[in-house]
Amino acid sequence: MIETRDLTKTYGDLYALNRLTLKLEPGDVYGFIGPNGAGKTTTMRILATLLNPTWGEGFVCGHSIHTNPREIRRAVGYMPDFFGVYDDMKVIEYLEFFASAYRIGGEARRRKCDEVLDLVDLAFKREALVTSLSRGMTQRLGLARVLLHDPQVLLLDEPASGLDPRARIEMRRLLKKLRGLGKTIMISSHILPELADICNKIGIIEKGQLLFNGDVAEAIRQVRQNPVVRVGVADGRDREAADLLEKHPSVLSVEPCNDPPCLRVTLAQGTIDPGPLADALVGAGFRLRLLMEEEIDLEDVFLGITKGITS
Ligand SMILES: Nc1ncnc2c1ncn2[C@@H]1O[C@H](COP(=O)(O)OP(=O)(O)OP(=O)(O)O)[C@@H](O)[C@H]1O
Ligand SMILES: [Mg+2]
Repeated sequence: MIETRDLTKTYGDLYALNRLTLKLEPGDVYGFIGPNGAGKTTTMRILATLLNPTWGEGFVCGHSIHTNPREIRRAVGYMPDFFGVYDDMKVIEYLEFFASAYRIGGEARRRKCDEVLDLVDLAFKREALVTSLSRGMTQRLGLARVLLHDPQVLLLDEPASGLDPRARIEMRRLLKKLRGLGKTIMISSHILPELADICNKIGIIEKGQLLFNGDVAEAIRQVRQNPVVRVGVADGRDREAADLLEKHPSVLSVEPCNDPPCLRVTLAQGTIDPGPLADALVGAGFRLRLLMEEEIDLEDVFLGITKGITS
């Protein structure tokens, strides 16, 4: 759906984007994460055909950014990080204005505008002035606007920036709804945890370089060299279980922990499946009441990858 090869943008000596190569399949929701100045907006503007790369190739829905920008604009809904709204315009007038620009006319236009207003939960603000909307509502209106021509691909540049926690939750709900419609979506953010549960793939970019490209579980694995699992056994036999686990070939260390009461077991590097631990315990007559991988703070994953801490 989206593919780039060695996409590069320079401004003088500065590489705003340095040989970006990535691929999104239909229905992917791709979280594009990086600090300020990483190259997120540059990438999205190039894919939306609003900015020419210095070199490299980009394809959206099979169309080249160099030779078929018109087809791409038809297939893409691009929501910029900042967009102007017009004074003295009602919400519905604003949408109708853009619908006309997409050459949607007559009865279809009214229907389409009401449909996208419903989708973003703004029907109740239909007759309100655009300037009277809160930041969260304005963002939702921006999203409604890019949905008017029913694009297959959405490029959303920090749709949740500047929103309060409740508005962020609403935005996430809305993004999940769009995911459910089968859209291919690229969303940028500074914050990995915010996107982790919406996206099936993520890319981490810094100073124009893609440092990581894959799914969230892979990112965690790359940063956490030794997986940690929590193991709880019944009947107060923690000490005995610890003795057994310490002898297991895939266990590096075992320590007690209190919250909840269990054993914290650090596994050898490269161990993915904690199943054999369970087998060993059950085989030795223990009753297992807990076995779970310890969660890692996603913010630490992000910091780990951007600092180059990988196994
Ligand atoms: N028109 C321009 N002229 C010169 N440098 C530019 C221009 N546009 C962007 N840059 C530079 O390119 C780099 C990437 O910018 P970009 O806007 O893509 O980052 P970003 O990841 O979107 O950051 P943010 O999180 O702040 O939105 C930055 O160093 C920026 O200063
Ligand atoms: Mg940006």
